[in-house]
Amino acid sequence: MPLVCVCSPKGGVGKTTLAANLAYTLARGGSKVLAIDFDVQNALRLHFGVPLSDGRGFVARSAESPDWSQAILTTGGNIFVLPYGDVSEAQRIEFESNLANDAHFLARGLQTVLNYPGLIIVADFPPGPGPALKAMTDLADLHLVVMLADTASLSLLPQIENEKMIGGALNHKAGHFFVLNQSDSRRNISRDVTAFMQQRLGDRLLGVVNRDESVAEANASQQSIFDFSQVSAAAFDIELVGKRVAALLDIKVGDGELQAPLTSR
Ligand SMILES: Nc1ncnc2c1ncn2[C@@H]1O[C@H](COP(=O)(O)OP(=O)(O)O)[C@@H](O)[C@H]1O
Ligand SMILES: [Mg+2]
Repeated sequence: MPLVCVCSPKGGVGKTTLAANLAYTLARGGSKVLAIDFDVQNALRLHFGVPLSDGRGFVARSAESPDWSQAILTTGGNIFVLPYGDVSEAQRIEFESNLANDAHFLARGLQTVLNYPGLIIVADFPPGPGPALKAMTDLADLHLVVMLADTASLSLLPQIENEKMIGGALNHKAGHFFVLNQSDSRRNISRDVTAFMQQRLGDRLLGVVNRDESVAEANASQQSIFDFSQVSAAAFDIELVGKRVAALLDIKVGDGELQAPLTSR
């Protein structure tokens, strides 16, 4: 049950996009992958063909049922989605307070999926610290911290390096790694920040993903970057990140057939 968390001190850096496409990459090896959304924006599902009008999710249900697996949506492939869902402000506050105050709340909610043999879990988080990210510390195997190739991301690097994001290590297993997203070699600042991050982070930098219009277009058509444009620079970069994550976690990723476009049922 490898569990990968995608997080960042910053918003709008591509966490959800990378989480979704990482799930697609890992699923291409034949593994079952569960994509879980811990962000109230509830946007992860939109990468998997779940209609905008479908507000189902585990947060609203978490009050009724301690087992969140009942809120899993199938996508027609070997990817499964656990959306946050459309919730009221009161439901969000209650969920966050349960995460913060009940040490077993998260493990109980995920118990069934954590025990599912061979299931890979990719969890997407809201920006910055938060009760979900903190509660995940003991369950997560690896964190991917997404940054942009810009100076704002650079200024936030010490937060991660000094374990300031949640006041300690993000996990106690494989540790945390970085992905630099939206790198653009035509822009001086992007080139400079990319070079600096490469030098500063070394092996901790798992990959650099090019800024590529196909990424947003793939999302708009609710497809993976691989189905939308297999030959795009971003598809290449994201696949490499996926392979490195798989290697770190000892997950088998085949070079198998691309999955057919997924539609939710
Ligand atoms: N490599 C990329 N190239 C171009 N656009 C990207 C790339 N990665 C993400 N985006 C776009 O950036 C925006 C923010 O991405 P998103 O995944 O929602 O970020 P976050 O989850 O960190 O808030 C989206 O419009 C997405 O399509
Ligand atoms: Mg997001």
